[in-house]
Amino acid sequence: MNVVILAAGMGKRMQSALPKVLHPLAGKPLLSHVIDTARGLSPSRLCVIYGHGGEIVPERMQASDLVFAKQEPQLGTGHAVMQALPHLDEEVPTLVLYGDVPLTTSNSLQQLLDSAGKDKLAILTVDLDDPTGYGRIVRQDGRIVSIVEQKDASAEQRAIREVNTGILVAPTAKLKKWLATLSNDNAQGEYYLTDIVARAVADDVPVVSAQPKAVWETLGVNSKVQLAQLERIHQRNIADTLLEQGVTLADPERIDVRGSLSCGRDVSIDVNCVFEGRVELEDGVSIGANCVIKNARIARGASIKPFCHIEDAVIGADAEIGPYARLRPGTELAEEVHIGNFVEVKNSKIAAKSKANHLAYVGDATVGSRVNIGAGTITCNYDGANKFRTIIEDDAFIGSDTQLVAPVRVGKGATLGAGTTLTKDAPDGKLTVSRARQVTIEGWQRPVKIKK
Ligand code: UD1
Ligand code: CA
Repeated sequence: MNVVILAAGMGKRMQSALPKVLHPLAGKPLLSHVIDTARGLSPSRLCVIYGHGGEIVPERMQASDLVFAKQEPQLGTGHAVMQALPHLDEEVPTLVLYGDVPLTTSNSLQQLLDSAGKDKLAILTVDLDDPTGYGRIVRQDGRIVSIVEQKDASAEQRAIREVNTGILVAPTAKLKKWLATLSNDNAQGEYYLTDIVARAVADDVPVVSAQPKAVWETLGVNSKVQLAQLERIHQRNIADTLLEQGVTLADPERIDVRGSLSCGRDVSIDVNCVFEGRVELEDGVSIGANCVIKNARIARGASIKPFCHIEDAVIGADAEIGPYARLRPGTELAEEVHIGNFVEVKNSKIAAKSKANHLAYVGDATVGSRVNIGAGTITCNYDGANKFRTIIEDDAFIGSDTQLVAPVRVGKGATLGAGTTLTKDAPDGKLTVSRARQVTIEGWQRPVKIKK
């Protein structure tokens, strides 16, 4: 089939300079949700109608499988679909989607496509308790005969609760013909796509309908209020899926997934965690409250304590991280590594069973196994112009408050005394310390306050 996504409207009620369809839901533009759903149906043509906001929409969204057609000025939904016509394959039906309706499932769309077959017009409709604002589905003897917009509807028609979601499938050659006959002689002075229904009836083309499983599949975003409502619906759906997979969530209302989160068995996630990008949690991982985790793989049995920030990192099995740890891009931790409170790690590899339990910065470092990094240790990896590596070999012991001025190497089993400023390599197995010798001054007296 062809897919046409309408995304030219201006979205005035968003009160924003950003075109409406680029506002993010779960960290991804509304339009990307619709494009991804459309891709799942393997369309032969995928055309996006844009207009308001200029070229930002095609610039942000460009991909080899998309064509963009500009609609300017925006004279209505029928006029929008007309702009796509040169790009469509007449041999297959056309599915029309809205760029601001992000949560329609491919299941519901497939159902609609199935009911349309090759030659019927199929409308996705839904029954609403309050149909205000929507186009009403007018039926005679059960058959759809027209769609009438709120502003054009009689009092009797306004009482109809079955509404047009806007999503429809039409035979493409017929669609072309019908669109050519549209007029804008209506309450809004627009070319209504919905007027093709009456044209189909006149042409003896059957008009059928399908209904989505849930009303939220058809909800659109016109304001920040609606965007926030859809975000909550979407997040709750994700949480329910995780619960069904066996993940323990302390509160399914307090988790945000902005990307993909895959979980093994017996994973537990405490409240207020945010997952971004691609996150994998293996069996038995537990995530404490208030963690932000982006693009990370966390191996089996690892425990992330509360208030950690983790990005582009790999964490080994049975590691213990936090509370209050920050793992920055390029962090690779092996099994049973412990990273404690107020420790920052960046672009560093730390081998099995090593520990940095308190207040440290480990940047551009390669750390061996069973290394102990004392409190207050800092790798001085940056001289203001270039960055250098620090190498700490297996079983080294780094005393508290040490500065490792890179490039520098600490040998196997070496010990650095507390407070050392290491500027030259420390040999294997020995104690290296740079520190003024401790002295006690005999006869020294504390100053006393001078009387005036
Ligand atoms: C439309 C339908 C209405 C339906 C409702 C569902 C028509 C005439 N009416 O009304 O029956 O119940 O959607 O939400 O089709 N757009 C363009 N170019 C335009 C106009 C709109 O690309 O010139 C896009 C918008 O960006 C939006 C979609 O089409 O994504 C719908 O436009 P909107 O103005 O919201 O339509 P409604 O008046 O709500
Ligand atoms: Ca709308």
